[in-house]
Amino acid sequence: MTHARDNFITWLRNAHAMEEQAVTLLTAQARRIESYPDLKDRVLEHLEETRGHVAALTEMLEKFAVTTPTFKDMTAKLAATAQGVGGLLVSDEVIKTMTTAFAFEHTEIATYKVLIAAADELDEPEAVAVFEHILSEEEDMAEWLNDNIDSITRIFLMRDERDLQAKR
Ligand SMILES: [Fe+2]
Repeated sequence: MTHARDNFITWLRNAHAMEEQAVTLLTAQARRIESYPDLKDRVLEHLEETRGHVAALTEMLEKFAVTTPTFKDMTAKLAATAQGVGGLLVSDEVIKTMTTAFAFEHTEIATYKVLIAAADELDEPEAVAVFEHILSEEEDMAEWLNDNIDSITRIFLMRDERDLQAKR
């Protein structure tokens, strides 16, 4: 099972980098949102959950004897910072926030489904349980966005029409 374990560790590292990226993105987004309190609260809530995901994955990387952040972690962090800053330049920032977050959550969902299958193949039930817990939080966030994209878009349009601050 050497190959399966190597694949698993690679995917685990990538998931860790992805969650680090998520912390950077969510922090930038939460700081920017002003006129959409429900979205801001949900982003802040998910930021806390995401910090928990980073901690859980760090612990697991240590357990599987993998150390130090990789170059990929650094690159992902920089990319997320650029993405966060890039949002400042658009007039429909809150809409970009939602579409970016929606795509990001679904990437995370797929990532944890892969990790659950791999951990199960390696007979690592504790790892499966950790991934399933994280997966449920990603699914809840994706569902919240799914349920709120319609109303937030309408509020954006209404505010924009009345020359109220709409973009964020
Ligand atoms: Fe997430």
